[in-house]
Amino acid sequence: MQKMLIEGGRTLKGKVRIGGAKNSAVALLPAAILADSDVVIEGLPDISDVYTLGELLEEIGGTVDWDGQTAHIDPSNMVSMPLPNGQVKKLRASYYFMGAMLGKFKKAVIGLPGGCHLGPRPIDQHIKGFEALGAQVTNEHGAIYLRADELTGARIYLDVVSVGATINIMLAAVRAKGQTIIENAAKEPEIIDVVTLLTNMGAKIKGAGTDVIRIEGVDQLNGCRHTIIPDRIEAGTYVIAAAAAGEDVTIDNVIPEHLESLLAKLREMGVSIEVGDEHLRIKPAQPLKSVDIKTLVYPGFPTDLQQPFTSLLTKADDTGVIIDTIYAARLKHIDELRRMNAIIKVEGGSVIVSGPVQLEGARVSASDLRAGAALVIAGLMAGGITEITGLEHIDRGYENLIEKLTNLGANVWREEMTHEEIEQLQNS
Ligand code: EPU
Repeated sequence: MQKMLIEGGRTLKGKVRIGGAKNSAVALLPAAILADSDVVIEGLPDISDVYTLGELLEEIGGTVDWDGQTAHIDPSNMVSMPLPNGQVKKLRASYYFMGAMLGKFKKAVIGLPGGCHLGPRPIDQHIKGFEALGAQVTNEHGAIYLRADELTGARIYLDVVSVGATINIMLAAVRAKGQTIIENAAKEPEIIDVVTLLTNMGAKIKGAGTDVIRIEGVDQLNGCRHTIIPDRIEAGTYVIAAAAAGEDVTIDNVIPEHLESLLAKLREMGVSIEVGDEHLRIKPAQPLKSVDIKTLVYPGFPTDLQQPFTSLLTKADDTGVIIDTIYAARLKHIDELRRMNAIIKVEGGSVIVSGPVQLEGARVSASDLRAGAALVIAGLMAGGITEITGLEHIDRGYENLIEKLTNLGANVWREEMTHEEIEQLQNS
């Protein structure tokens, strides 16, 4: 088991290139199940979630050949193998095997998904959608059993705007008979990316990026070649890191429009941002002004950047208030930031960050992916050395983090943990 060490106080400068979008990748790979011939996906991020899903595709009989970050997937020998345990429990996005396998084979058995612990993460809207399409869905011993004689298009209103439910219902509906209409659909860029892949495969889908998506079912889907969109959350994390600890940082391979809510808040804080066609150049302000943020569904401020943004607010003048309306309990980074001297109060659903504070290095633990990003940013700003454990969470979503930060001038490295440290961690 490894830990990450950061010697804080170095100024970040230079260029960083963003990888493919994790939350697209984790849907695009299962979507390949629906095709009857080879699907090639280019630009996948070099993260553990992607390889876990690749292994799951092989477990059900597919072949996945890697050429750098391009996956060649042959789905022709895939079968509806039950996946009640094992890898499927490692990540939340394994729930896309439900929609894709139901859509292709009319049946699936998938263990209840794992992933980051952000408080309750129900999948009732996914199941409501599958049932509306004609599937029988039961929960037996921690696995979801889905079965349908035939899937028939339906009108489905989502009670909660959900990225996962919108994508999963599309996966199940593209090969159903007749028309499916998803109302109150999510509008995230990752949904449009999945629709681009499905459309290239031969699906008939209209309205992606709006809150009503219309799908005309087709009998067959073919293979295709697809290039993934850049990861707006990875990009946003580097933008925040640059505002927190940078002097002049260029973030390449971004779609700036995907980050408008974040950029607007940073401008309010006084950060100077140059927006190019595919890059952002960040020149931070001294001092930073505090702001309040409220996370919302896209195009609002993303919940996935709320934790990294908390670290930045510790450096800003005065008090900033954060409210996460998507995952109110996504707060496990706060105690860790307090260990580093941050002054943060949680009152009701509000996180109140008082600044400016000079953070100090400490031993901290990443409880989930974006909490990990928050601690890395805090470590870059802190005096002394910050030691971060729980790297398996960070590795699920940030490719080549050490290399990218080192290229920007950070002093950051990984070390094997001693037996005593591992024992201490397990007992804490
Ligand atoms: N919800 C329900 N019922 C459902 C589904 C969702 O009540 O059936 C609720 C959730 O509890 C939450 C809200 O609806 O309060 C939104 O959840 P959503 O379904 O949109 O989340 P998700 O699809 O499970 C994806 C990302 C998350 C990201 C959220 C919100 C993937 C694999 N995960 O999760 O990403 O936080 O959308 O944008 O796409 C991350 O990257 O760190 C991460 C957690």
